[in-house]
Amino acid sequence: FSHNLNAVESTLALIKPDLLADPQQVKTVENEIQQRFKVSQRKQVFWKTEEAQNFYQEHQGKLFFNRLIGYMTSGPLIALALTGPHVISEWRLLMGQTRPPQMRVLKPETLRARFGLTDTRNSFHGSDSVASARRELAFFFGPDSYDRFLRV
Ligand code: TYD
Ligand code: MG
Repeated sequence: FSHNLNAVESTLALIKPDLLADPQQVKTVENEIQQRFKVSQRKQVFWKTEEAQNFYQEHQGKLFFNRLIGYMTSGPLIALALTGPHVISEWRLLMGQTRPPQMRVLKPETLRARFGLTDTRNSFHGSDSVASARRELAFFFGPDSYDRFLRV
């Protein structure tokens, strides 16, 4: 049981490989993230196919799955643990919904609208629930990292 009255959460944010091809864009994005959120931990990784398949296992069998895995293993990515009140939904609001072309119409100020290329190459990831955040943060930062980020 944790006394989490102001709904402090942690979430996993990923900056995906297409954005890392442009260091200036990464700098811009990371500055904006740091201005809005506490970054508890940061890591750059280059996924093997099996790691990408494991992370995205809920999408196994879908039409876009192989395209998604190919994209996510095409270059390095940056994993950020963000911590703060309602950070799971706050990060997803800043990021925007899945499809950048649609976001450029509906929410042009979002990160996916500004930087995303296609429905697959959409530049960012954000955990969608506390359960997902626990699993996804553990994937990058070790077991119980969610609770560790809330404590400090
Ligand atoms: P999903 O979890 O539905 O989206 P989100 O990242 O917004 O939570 O899908 C995971 C990723 O799969 C998504 O970021 C990009 C890719 N994807 C496609 O390539 N095509 C699609 O039609 C969908 C739904 C997702
Ligand atoms: Mg998702």
